[in-house]
Amino acid sequence: MLNPYATTSIASFPSSMVRRWGAVFCLLLCGFFLLIPYLPKNLGNEPNLLLLVGRLHPLVLHFPIVIILLTLLFLLIGNAVALFKHPLLILSMLMLGCISSVIAAFAGYLLVATADYSGELVNDHLWGGVLTGLGISLSTALYLYLIPHQNSKQAYLMYGALGATTLILGYTSHLGGTLTHGQEFLSEPLTALFPPEDVIEKPIEEMLLYEDLIHTILDAKCLNCHNENKTKGGLLMTSLENLLKAGESGKAAIVPGNPLESELMVRVHLPISADEHMPPEGKPGLTTDEIDVLAYWIENGALNDQKIDSLLDNPTIGNTIVGLLPAIRKSQQRMIVEKETFEKVHKELSVIATELGIDILPDKASDQLTFAMRMNFPPKPFSTKELLTLAPYFAYFSSVSLAASDISDDELFHIAKMENLQHLFIQKTRITGNGLPYLHALSKLETLNISFTPMEAGNALHLLEFPVLKKIYFFGTPVKKDVIEALQAYRPDLEIILEEGPLF
Ligand code: HEC
Repeated sequence: MLNPYATTSIASFPSSMVRRWGAVFCLLLCGFFLLIPYLPKNLGNEPNLLLLVGRLHPLVLHFPIVIILLTLLFLLIGNAVALFKHPLLILSMLMLGCISSVIAAFAGYLLVATADYSGELVNDHLWGGVLTGLGISLSTALYLYLIPHQNSKQAYLMYGALGATTLILGYTSHLGGTLTHGQEFLSEPLTALFPPEDVIEKPIEEMLLYEDLIHTILDAKCLNCHNENKTKGGLLMTSLENLLKAGESGKAAIVPGNPLESELMVRVHLPISADEHMPPEGKPGLTTDEIDVLAYWIENGALNDQKIDSLLDNPTIGNTIVGLLPAIRKSQQRMIVEKETFEKVHKELSVIATELGIDILPDKASDQLTFAMRMNFPPKPFSTKELLTLAPYFAYFSSVSLAASDISDDELFHIAKMENLQHLFIQKTRITGNGLPYLHALSKLETLNISFTPMEAGNALHLLEFPVLKKIYFFGTPVKKDVIEALQAYRPDLEIILEEGPLF
């Protein structure tokens, strides 16, 4: 039997006084939660204690989540093992859930009020937090109220109340995840598992060796650097026609009938450590099966119209093709979803860019599907509020220029969440370097321009800690030359350029 109350409980707990005052306390908490959306939202973003507490929100919010889920779980297990739904245990957990929700909600409020967060998503998330708080407080009050009725049907209400709270909690956490990780955070793995319906699988009889197999392999592992926007080595790999042409080396990438003469095959067979090995070190390389299929295709004339099903029984290559097919299909679907998502995000970002008076364009220099952002001239006001409008899209930026904008060290906290950022231009801003440690989280940041900032000599030392930084433009700051020389001596791999440097 499902029943949230233990049959064998300490008869005297909770006493009617505990129950009465407990319920009053829960109702007071409800009042507190309802008040939150109406508290002042502009406490300023000077670094102070409030700001610090606000930034603890992403940490403390995990307590109520865990406690609420555990309580529900304990109540359910309690039907088998009565100890799990002992009133002392359940009531303590519910109270802990209430109190930790109060702390998380208050920290969340401070985060909104001190960091200029705004927008529909933030508002929905805030209300979700309020409803979660109401849910857990009311569940606790209900639990206290229902104790004398524990053997009646009314006791089931408890599951309903906690269940509803859990659902709201789930949705609120999803919104919060979207705020910190970007729009596709949850749907990305989901779309990978369940591809959208318009991605119809081609029947095997219609699949072509070049178009479906070879091209998909090259698309996945080579095209990032060999496309119309970025034609490394002068080699375009977008079509068979282009593959037959010579790149900068003067040698054709593909010589039909002759894999050994085909520069493409030569490059993939070089030792990985060789400078000319393709793809370059660090990028996912071709597998032996992929190389075998490429070699077979070139050897047999690099045909455009050869069908796959005619090869499935082929003693040399049949098994290899059959083995590759599932991965090829997945790869095709992933690329379609990626491109669709990119186009959708592109549209949404264009609207925001117009509103903010900035430029956001696909980053052609990047080998990922990402965007570059830069200020327009003359620049419109751009500080925390504007930056946070872009928060759901942070993961899509690989290059950001906020030169001469109003941003300060505090905003670096948010910029640090742009996990794919490679180039950051923050020259001519108020950055003193206090916020530089936030940026150490950027595991792909290669270029940083901090020319003409009031950088403090002590803070310049933070530059040593960037994981993959290659180039720093460092001109016109109060930092003395000997400090810069010391930095250079300490990190000889870092290119410290004493020039104003590019704007984007
Ligand atoms: C991260 C970027 C990148 C990726 C990914 C990449 N390449 Fe390249 N590729 C380059 C660069 C840079 C050059 C020019 C320098 C050189 O010749 O080594 C080049 C040159 C080449 C050339 C010589 C062109 C010529 O005629 O000079 C071939 C052939 C080639 N790549 C094949 C491939 C193949 C096949 C793949 C996929 C397995 C691949 N590349 C993936 C960056 C890339």
